[in-house]
Amino acid sequence: MAISKTSRKLPPIEVKGSATQPLGMSPAQFLRDYWQKRPLLIRNAFPDFKAPLEPDDLAGLACEPAALARLIVHDEKRDRWHVNSGPLSEDDFSRTPESNWTLLVQDVDKWDVDVAALLDRFGFLPSWRVDDVMISYAEPGGGVGAHVDQYDVFLLQGLGQRHWAISDDPMAPKGFRHDIELKQLAQFESTHEWLLETGDMLYLPPGIPHDGVAFGGPCMTYSIGMRAPSQAELTGDLADFIAEHLPEELRYADPDLKPAKAIGEIDRAVIERIKYALPFAAALDDDMLRDWFGRFITRYRNAQFPAIPDKPLADGALAKQLDAGAQLLRHPWSRLAWSQRRKGCTLFANGQAYNATPGMAEQLCAQRSLDTAGRKIDHIEFALLLALVNDGHLLLRKSRRR
Ligand code: SIN
Ligand code: CO
Repeated sequence: MAISKTSRKLPPIEVKGSATQPLGMSPAQFLRDYWQKRPLLIRNAFPDFKAPLEPDDLAGLACEPAALARLIVHDEKRDRWHVNSGPLSEDDFSRTPESNWTLLVQDVDKWDVDVAALLDRFGFLPSWRVDDVMISYAEPGGGVGAHVDQYDVFLLQGLGQRHWAISDDPMAPKGFRHDIELKQLAQFESTHEWLLETGDMLYLPPGIPHDGVAFGGPCMTYSIGMRAPSQAELTGDLADFIAEHLPEELRYADPDLKPAKAIGEIDRAVIERIKYALPFAAALDDDMLRDWFGRFITRYRNAQFPAIPDKPLADGALAKQLDAGAQLLRHPWSRLAWSQRRKGCTLFANGQAYNATPGMAEQLCAQRSLDTAGRKIDHIEFALLLALVNDGHLLLRKSRRR
């Protein structure tokens, strides 16, 4: 079979919209070429855009106690950002500087039917994927700084002009600035810049660094934002849902059990039984399953937990006690298990995981009183014993010999 050497041309990053095609193309083409894939600037997406809301209406809404509003002022000289997360009052607005500030109000579509009507233009998307219409008002220089959003967003210019800078470089650094409460990027270098006029719209898929700054005069931007639960949220909710529906009598079962080779070990057969009992667990990494099961089973239905000692023991003090022949007693409420990882070994104690060696892990599971006399303890084992003492799982009984 002949392989064509012509590579497919990338679709353009800028197109022209019209009254009948706000995306500048059919929804099917937009979804195929841009949605969740690449940014798109649509000039004139909403020709003759009639703003459903005046700046004063937005400020009024921002002062409603239930509104989600933020007032952000940028002190450009010192590069300080001041965020007032509301509830806002008229006084807050009277104190704003002449420029470099912005007001953002989320969920405006829930408050205003004309704003909600804008969503009709996005009917080609599943309605449950749409989160809200957030509206910002900004004076020249106002914005929220360079950042990344986790969701797709359509940024419709509603009033005035805004300068947008974005980066579609997949290698762009995504680290945050730690000195401000806004999740701003520590570094941002744009690959594309545009000045958006009223009616222009910028679509951004998740993860694209962007920075929008009001230009020239008062500026309003309508952000039609999507929502997409994280895999962690989906997993947590599905697990709760399944748990509610499973009958009590379906339990961990081991009719295939063989005599234990190593005391306390969560071995391969356990992991296989879990995968059989919970089919969706079969897709998970074995180390992850072991880590979860070890923590779970050692805290499962424990009536009590060992108390943490008032004062932590220093490593030197423990070394001295062990040299002097002290014994380590396992706390009666400590429930232990251990497992091999692909690299290394973990001891689990009442829901916590500790780095261990198989020899020490098994000894701790097997013996209520650990006699270390004459036993060589390596640095992993020593750190483990110290952590277990300081978490209350092992109690030191000093030697009587002097
Ligand atoms: C804004 O409207 O100022 C911010 C919108 C965004 O960047 O997500
Ligand atoms: Co954004």
